[in-house]
Amino acid sequence: MPPSAELDSAWTALDHAAEAEREATIRDHFAADADRVGRLTLEAAGLTLDLSKQTFGRAGLEALLGLARAARVQDRRAALFGGEAINATEGRAVLHPALRAADGADYAALGEPVSREVEQTRRAVADYAEAVRDGTITGSDGRRIRALVHIGIGGSDLGPRLVWEALKPLEPAIDLRFVANIDDGDMAEALTGLDPAETLVVVVSKTFTTQETLANAERAKAWLEAGLKGGDVRPHLVGVTAAPERAEAFGCGRTFGFRDWVGGRYSLWSAVSLSCVIGLGAEVFDRMLAGAAAMDDHFRTAPLEANAPVMLALAQVWNVDAKGRRARTVAPYAHRLRRLPAFLQQLEMESNGKRVRRDGGVATRGTCPVVFGEPGTNGQHAFFQQIHQGPEVVPAEFVVVRKGEDGRDQPALWANALAQAQALMIGKSGAEARAELIAAGAEDAEADRLAPHKTFPGDRPSTTILMDALTPETLGSLLALYEHKTFVEGVIWDINSFDQWGVELGKVLAKAILKDVEAGAPSEGLDSSTRALLGWLTR
Ligand code: F6P
Repeated sequence: MPPSAELDSAWTALDHAAEAEREATIRDHFAADADRVGRLTLEAAGLTLDLSKQTFGRAGLEALLGLARAARVQDRRAALFGGEAINATEGRAVLHPALRAADGADYAALGEPVSREVEQTRRAVADYAEAVRDGTITGSDGRRIRALVHIGIGGSDLGPRLVWEALKPLEPAIDLRFVANIDDGDMAEALTGLDPAETLVVVVSKTFTTQETLANAERAKAWLEAGLKGGDVRPHLVGVTAAPERAEAFGCGRTFGFRDWVGGRYSLWSAVSLSCVIGLGAEVFDRMLAGAAAMDDHFRTAPLEANAPVMLALAQVWNVDAKGRRARTVAPYAHRLRRLPAFLQQLEMESNGKRVRRDGGVATRGTCPVVFGEPGTNGQHAFFQQIHQGPEVVPAEFVVVRKGEDGRDQPALWANALAQAQALMIGKSGAEARAELIAAGAEDAEADRLAPHKTFPGDRPSTTILMDALTPETLGSLLALYEHKTFVEGVIWDINSFDQWGVELGKVLAKAILKDVEAGAPSEGLDSSTRALLGWLTR
């Protein structure tokens, strides 16, 4: 059978399985399969995934695995690790795994070896970071560097910011601050209380053309110039970019590079995390790379049904394509992972938030749902009302860390995470709600009136991801898990997960509107709504 016919029939099989299992609840699936928990619990690179509370049964799972095979997930995975031009609209390889491979690997992008250069940059970043940490590298007047201002946006911000929040010491030796927004309030807040003589400004931009980052870099440079009072600014400005000539022209005294085969939202494993390497130390960062490399090995070698990224992706495909769920919430039950939802929003929605297939035809299935979240337990007291009782079913993902800050157990945190997943699954029927009201002393009429409000439909899916402790290794493994999951979804939905044309139009129009503001008049043909809004802002 040609691949496309095989794929069509795999989608048809999925539709049939969904139809066959339409009436079955999650609890029915447990009743029909004594080993459901065992079969749907996976171990991968220090993580444990429990997918048993998803809504597919045996037939659904078989159909999903058939779909993965028909979509050639294994071949596409080989193309990714083989450095082929899988980002076809930009003619680029996608090789972030090369960034975290142990020394001695031999990755190649479009046939060009890359691993030696990766190792050299990794060493240069580590050496520079250690020299800042031990005071060998100083500010221009010889004073020790005590603060870093990391400027970047999107992939040049979200990964490093998450890594820092996840792993930073309680009392960091280096005061690391992040600035992303073009709103000057972001920079003003970041610079408050800092001494330019003791501060490094790290400008991170793959392209070194991003409007927000360049505007913030100019602001920071002006702040350094004013504060250093004639001292040399260059040692205080560091660039991280795939366009080193632009960083040098801007005035960076030191520049670290990476290549165009590193996508922005997949770049945290590169010199993009320089600030974190300085703040945490190279040894900690290397441990994070090792955790991600362990997940790469798992993804590359585990059979589909035991492969954590593949199975997580298949659960999402089931929810989107078999069940029509257009959103998913992620709740990390770990304060230190509070930036995970924001990171995943870019990773998943910038990668797979698309409506055309790789061949340009309109996608008839999928694609990426809206991803949102908050750390547990905070989210429980906000939008979880809707997750439990709202009209739309929103699949949930719970990331639970066993050990707390000082290595102690956190039973209250665990109990909350498990209770949410359990409540979503079991719900509470109208009859149960009514019986509870009667037992609590309500009259019949009162019980009838209140019972609908206290009813939970249940049968709402969730996945739980467990880790023993949040370490550099488990963090690396978790983030690589999500990267590969996103890739597998893109393969199954047949979209290019590695371009982001959808962000371009707004950038172009923002430049045009800014010109209008500078010219003092709206341009010909500006639509009347935008013209009116601009009139209000410039009045
Ligand atoms: O706006 C989208 C985007 O292009 C992201 O893909 C990227 O991570 C971000 O902007 C920042 O880009 P750069 O690193 O080139 O400044």
